[in-house]
Amino acid sequence: MENFSEVAVIGAGIMGRGIAQLCAQSGFSVYLVDLDDEILSQGIGEIQSAIQRMTDKGKISSEEAGKVLKRIKGVTDLDAAAADADLVIEAVPENMELKSRLFRDIDKICRPNVILATNTSSLSIAQIARATGPPDKVIGLHFFYPVPVIEGVEVIPSLLTSEETVSSTMNFVKTIGKEPLISRDFPGFIVNRLLPALINEAFNLLWQGIAPAEEIDKACTLTLRHPVGPLAMADLIGLDTVLSVLEYLHGELGEKYRPSPLLKQLVKAGHYGRKSGKGVYGYESTIRNKSAKTDTVV
Ligand SMILES: NC(=O)c1ccc[n+]([C@@H]2O[C@H](COP(=O)([O-])OP(=O)(O)OC[C@H]3O[C@@H](n4cnc5c(N)ncnc54)[C@H](O)[C@@H]3O)[C@@H](O)[C@H]2O)c1
Repeated sequence: MENFSEVAVIGAGIMGRGIAQLCAQSGFSVYLVDLDDEILSQGIGEIQSAIQRMTDKGKISSEEAGKVLKRIKGVTDLDAAAADADLVIEAVPENMELKSRLFRDIDKICRPNVILATNTSSLSIAQIARATGPPDKVIGLHFFYPVPVIEGVEVIPSLLTSEETVSSTMNFVKTIGKEPLISRDFPGFIVNRLLPALINEAFNLLWQGIAPAEEIDKACTLTLRHPVGPLAMADLIGLDTVLSVLEYLHGELGEKYRPSPLLKQLVKAGHYGRKSGKGVYGYESTIRNKSAKTDTVV
């Protein structure tokens, strides 16, 4: 497994496109898979813009940029992508049923012993693994947004993951220039035990009228020195994703993760954050890395 060269990334949303870009920059051939062509071309377009910005800033040559982009193929056909993959990284929405179904399908297509990694933010890796044949090749590989920039990646073996899968995954993470952070397979792992609690409390502050959104965010950037405030961060992550994670943690770990009523209200209204153009704040464009904040919606 140490010599893998082809990676299949399933899901071309916020995370999948960043993971595909990072893998291609690190020399891997990448299949980026999604359900429809429009999402795929939006994803590939966003990767092209990111690579162009790197070229403009002199971080990579135009020759290297061309090579990186050539390594990425966007497809809707899961069979074509997974059949030759040496590593699969799943980045579809945070839903156990959806992920389990997908892992069952992927397992039938892939060669035996290919590592199947999930980018889940909180769900049980063991439960996802049980959808596959031998579950020892399934592992959590939790990237953070924006993927090419954030230095750490959580590596989460379940009780069913083999040592070989863990060591190959750790080597892969180092090969793509990231620092692996090992966590046990327990709801939320490390970072998502901490971050959703902060974000949820920020929504509660806003809901209770303690302070306006901008003030809550500024309180965290100016006093805690967080680079982004928790409400702006929720808009970046996607309010639907934040809510899914909180609902899962609430069920598994109890009352302290009960989702804020305001967060639930916004998700019901389709205010998912930057990806939908409106969340806590409004945005000019729904293309995530180009959108500029316009006003406060809440
Ligand atoms: N958004 C974040 O900041 C963040 C950070 C870390 C981890 N995650 C996790 O990463 C995963 C993906 O999150 P996201 O924010 O990229 O979601 P997203 O909604 O932006 O993208 C998910 C994509 O998966 C596609 N999809 C759905 N079913 C599919 C299938 N069967 N086959 C192929 N594609 C399919 C959808 O069309 C969509 O484009 C989730 O588990 C999430 O919890 C998200």
